Amino acid sequence: MVKLTGKKINVAVFISGRGSNLKNLIKYSKLKNSLIKIKLVISNKINAKGLYFAKKYKIKYFIINYKNIKISEIKILKKLTISKIELICLAGFMRIISENFIKKFNKPILNIHPSLLPKYKGLNTYKKVLQNKEKFSGSTVHLVSKKLDSGKIILQKKIKISKYDNIKTLEKKILLLEHNLYPRAIKKFLSSF
Ligand code: GRF
Repeated sequence: MVKLTGKKINVAVFISGRGSNLKNLIKYSKLKNSLIKIKLVISNKINAKGLYFAKKYKIKYFIINYKNIKISEIKILKKLTISKIELICLAGFMRIISENFIKKFNKPILNIHPSLLPKYKGLNTYKKVLQNKEKFSGSTVHLVSKKLDSGKIILQKKIKISKYDNIKTLEKKILLLEHNLYPRAIKKFLSSF
């Protein structure tokens, strides 16, 4: 349970790659009226581009290699406890969060997924959406549960797909939309307590 005490909530962001959502969440966290403080970044990739933003903004970060899932998760849980993390935001984190981890952490975990869930769970969403000639797509912020991309939906945003869209243009559009969506979803989620 997250307690809103007037103080900002301690957040850890988990990444695996580019980190544009991380960058955007850091920006949001710096706003006076934001509800979060990003205290920790976890990456499972040593060369994740997003680590640059952790360094730039002097946020503690850890690289966990995930060779052994159990040991890696124990290590992460320790880091989360030390930094008194109250909320995890997954932002392009390409590893499955185990049921055991969800139980042990026992606080909310949010994820952003580039489709209009429950449609197009899992990988390659843009490709599948285009192959199926969908008219709309978008992105969803949801709670992480033991089933992949299936937890309670917090907020969703939709865009129209044009007949000229390809994987690249669709990804670009959705990423832009995500940068507005994730902070809004966090606000909505935290305000519900
Ligand atoms: C985003 O599209 C997000 O929805 C998905 O992974 C992508 C991460 O992008 N889960 P970035 O690393 O934040 O730029």
